[in-house]
Amino acid sequence: MKVFAVPVDFNTPFPRELFDIISPERRNRLSEFRRKEDKIRGLLSELLVRLVLDLYYGIHSHQIHIIINGFGKPFLKNLPLHFNVSHSGKWIVAAVDDQSVGIDIEKIEPIDYQKISRSFFSNEEYTFIMDQQKQDQLMSFYSIWTGKESYLKATGQGLSVSLNSFSVCNDSGKIISNVSPGNEEWHLQSYNISPEYHLTVCSPSAVFPDKPVLFTLEEVIGHFVCKS
Ligand SMILES: CC(C)(COP(=O)(O)OP(=O)(O)OC[C@H]1O[C@@H](n2cnc3c(N)ncnc32)[C@H](O)[C@@H]1OP(=O)(O)O)[C@@H](O)C(=O)NCCC(=O)NCCS
Repeated sequence: MKVFAVPVDFNTPFPRELFDIISPERRNRLSEFRRKEDKIRGLLSELLVRLVLDLYYGIHSHQIHIIINGFGKPFLKNLPLHFNVSHSGKWIVAAVDDQSVGIDIEKIEPIDYQKISRSFFSNEEYTFIMDQQKQDQLMSFYSIWTGKESYLKATGQGLSVSLNSFSVCNDSGKIISNVSPGNEEWHLQSYNISPEYHLTVCSPSAVFPDKPVLFTLEEVIGHFVCKS
């Protein structure tokens, strides 16, 4: 597995030709987004995937056809690789592997974690958060949130699965799930790419990279503008 991240500066000019590189479906979807930030995040998430498939797997952009499952998870058609992307605030992140993978990044905001976790998380997760020292509770909440999201994205079920139907076992870094068939075991790995964000990856494998590969925005844009 490989994990990749790129920070976005929303004031950077984005050449129009970048929109010709992404799939027509995404281009149509992005044209309906009102907010410039959402358009840019949506553009860059596919560009990041196309960039890393080219650089690390030798798969050129024209060989990439993205299809989407019934729950919204994108897959690579006719290629033996899986990927997943996530975006929050200024970060776009992606994971690529030869098996299912899910990734979630969230910007840490001072939200009412007690109310949200009591309403939507399992009892074990709520108790886990509230057992932490007060100053650590918000981070524990985000750790569980991104763990749950990354699991739902790894399985591809998204929010068709209720959030309190499974628990993330935070101590061991494993997920205990009563929703996946065959009692599969899933594993989580968090990365600290910025103190203001929490990033977690979920995989059937317990082997994760030590750290994400960081790209600059200029590297991502330059790769396509120069080559196209
Ligand atoms: C869509 C969902 C899978 C992730 O949403 P999110 O956390 O808001 O967004 P992220 O940035 O992490 O991920 C978005 C990407 O996930 C991918 N994705 C969409 N549906 C997916 C699915 N079912 N499985 C895996 N990946 C999916 C897409 O590539 C999407 O990016 P794109 O639209 O640019 O292609 C879904 O879980 C959701 O709507 N979550 C809402 C958040 C929430 O309520 N969380 C509760 C706390 S646990």
